[in-house]
Amino acid sequence: MLPLPAVGWSPDQRALRLLDQRVLPEAEVVRDLVVLEDTIDAIRTLAVRGAPAIGVAAAIGLVVALEAAHADAPGAALRPLVDAWGARLVAARPTAVNLPWAVARLQRVAAALPPDAPPRALLEALRGEAEAIRAEDVAMGEAIGTHGLALVPDGARVLTHCNAGALATAGAGTALAPVYAAHARGRRLAVFATETRPLRQGARLTAWELHRAGISVTVLPDGAVAALLASGAVDVVLVGADRIAANGDVANKVGTRGVALAAQAAGVPFIVVAPGSTIDPATPHGDAMPIEHRDADELAPLPAGVGAWNPAFDVTPRALVTGYLTDRGFVEPPFLE
Ligand code: MRU
Repeated sequence: MLPLPAVGWSPDQRALRLLDQRVLPEAEVVRDLVVLEDTIDAIRTLAVRGAPAIGVAAAIGLVVALEAAHADAPGAALRPLVDAWGARLVAARPTAVNLPWAVARLQRVAAALPPDAPPRALLEALRGEAEAIRAEDVAMGEAIGTHGLALVPDGARVLTHCNAGALATAGAGTALAPVYAAHARGRRLAVFATETRPLRQGARLTAWELHRAGISVTVLPDGAVAALLASGAVDVVLVGADRIAANGDVANKVGTRGVALAAQAAGVPFIVVAPGSTIDPATPHGDAMPIEHRDADELAPLPAGVGAWNPAFDVTPRALVTGYLTDRGFVEPPFLE
């Protein structure tokens, strides 16, 4: 497993601690962030990434920034900052629902306190909620791993897209949690990881964390997915999710839809693996999902004057999903609560 969690508290509990994913696998750099702008920048630039991890980062990042602001100006009103700074964190990346979900949890805690509650009481309540979000994320990964064991018997050959492993959460990951749970039980597994253009989360991150855990991993270019699946080399596809709509449509890293189409054509089960915090009953279907578009620079170099279409996510319709594995086991849409 990782030398440390991808996201959590610094040892003195005063900062958000991240393993900077922008520089992996070349360097293992740990960053401690306190200032709100630094946390927003870390989320926007994918120093911390993956739906559950950015929710945990936003929760801890908001608390440590508020505590620092209170230490600098003890008389200043903190309560309005919970809403204003929370909104700025949510705007950093639009697709993963775990980010607004985590911030809304902190905002509800603040709203439930009496208006004249002292700042210390507010900060302690927020710290407790942020820690609960972090600890629940770890527990959800463990539960997903156990529920998913039947998907990865000894000898299983798994295809995954992007990174939905330990680097994408505070714990063992989502799509990779059953892989880690099976590996811990001595099962022999082979994982195929898509390269995941343009930021190469599969080649840089999934390959790095599986390899260091001693799990066999083979990287393929995204364009080779259909051929690999058609060849019969894969038993099951396990992918994460950034948002699951009420009807079961799934937003995940761009390319997921193509993997699902190729899996269906090849008759390979396509399983979406996510914690409850990724299910969004308020979004009725995939067309209502906000899809993040990123800078053309990520596709560089392009000839001068050439445009780019660079969505970070796509939507896989419910009809292409064989099953939904969550921390509560397998669930079926519609997701109404
Ligand atoms: O742009 P990223 O790297 O944050 O995209 C991540 C994904 O699409 C993951 O598959 C998803 O967040 C699930 S992570 C458990």
